[in-house]
Amino acid sequence: MKKSFVIKGDICYCQSLENLLTIKDGFLVCQDGISQGAFANLPDQYSDFELLDFSNMLIIPGLVDLHLHGPQNHYKGLGMDLELLDWLNTYTFPEEAKFKDLDFAMDKYRLFVEEIKRSPSTRLSIFASLHLPATILLMDLMEESGLISYVGRVNMDRNGGADLEEDSAEDSVNTTLAWLEAVKAKGYERTFPIITPRFIPSCSDQLMDSLSKIRSSYKLPVQSHLSENQGEILWVQDLCPGSKSYADAYDQFKMLGFQGLKTIMAHCVWTSPEEEELLKDKDVFVAHCPDSNTNLSSGIAPIRRFLDNGLKLGLGTDVGAGSSLSIFKAMVDAIQVSKMYWRLVDQNAKALSAKEAFYLGTLGGGEFFGKLGSFAEGYEFDCLVVDDSRFSPWSEWNIEERLERVIYLAQDSDLVSKFVRGRKIF
Ligand code: GUN
Ligand code: FE
Repeated sequence: MKKSFVIKGDICYCQSLENLLTIKDGFLVCQDGISQGAFANLPDQYSDFELLDFSNMLIIPGLVDLHLHGPQNHYKGLGMDLELLDWLNTYTFPEEAKFKDLDFAMDKYRLFVEEIKRSPSTRLSIFASLHLPATILLMDLMEESGLISYVGRVNMDRNGGADLEEDSAEDSVNTTLAWLEAVKAKGYERTFPIITPRFIPSCSDQLMDSLSKIRSSYKLPVQSHLSENQGEILWVQDLCPGSKSYADAYDQFKMLGFQGLKTIMAHCVWTSPEEEELLKDKDVFVAHCPDSNTNLSSGIAPIRRFLDNGLKLGLGTDVGAGSSLSIFKAMVDAIQVSKMYWRLVDQNAKALSAKEAFYLGTLGGGEFFGKLGSFAEGYEFDCLVVDDSRFSPWSEWNIEERLERVIYLAQDSDLVSKFVRGRKIF
């Protein structure tokens, strides 16, 4: 697969939260999967690279989904009249338990991976379930897809009910170690393990302590859920009477950033100022999941405050509490809930602009994967080619205006081409 080429088209990417760079009829150079930059005129040194001509189409970085659940895709959009804990017990735990059956898992994970392959995401951080064979199967399928992802086998040794609970902390630890060894033997190039305690109510102190040690010795990132729902938060206070806050309950086990290892915490809707300080100190990536937070009536995360205070922030679809795999939709939802927050909660919290939401879905979340989410020189070359001609006749709008319309209107079928680290997916 050739990974050095030039793309011609209408280029658009974020340089920072405030700065969007656009080039009409520009050239993007990809060399061995790495961007060499975006140019108005093609530098001579690249003149013999293959030219892929996407003139008049919008060329943007691949989108990043920092939080979603593979085994929840097949029933997304169900039980949306419930709040988190009832939704978990009524739909999620019974459905996830079915992934014990590898045929069932194959059927559902195949469709899931096909769907995300067609979606605007090029990078994802995915929760699997607690089942080892099904988690390896999902990782095999992700590797085959060409997308780059972290996938976590979920740990849960309490409060999962009869069908979705590991026998003991020891059992959960042993399965985790077996999973990590199996992953090592597979030698994946694009699919990486991430330690995944479901949330505090699912994991005993003994399990959290052991997972923390595993994370340190294997040098792995962590993902989990934090401060999503008020009933959940009260439950965590009961379960961890010695902790100062929900975030502190993770930090006591060194599950937030530690030894330079990264952490993603999904939701952070009800994060207190002290928790926010802790998340900032530990360089935790907050995965903002506005679709899910609305569906489960969880609340509105204070995103403007997080941005003003310099937290690391990206977007998550949180399928299946989120009902769509599109990070374009997550951008729209993030803008819309930020307007409601401004109108109803805090008139000092300026609503997000389309440009800022685009930043969150590209550079913001991209940082979790390293140099990602921009076409600046040295960034990994993840790229989407969008044909927006059906809703933005290109003579009428400038590139920034077209981008806004793409965010609101684009469907998977408007994506003409998708590249991940220079590799063409379609
Ligand atoms: N908290 C613990 N598990 C889950 C889950 O599967 N989805 C959501 N939205 N929150 C959770
Ligand atoms: Fe989630």
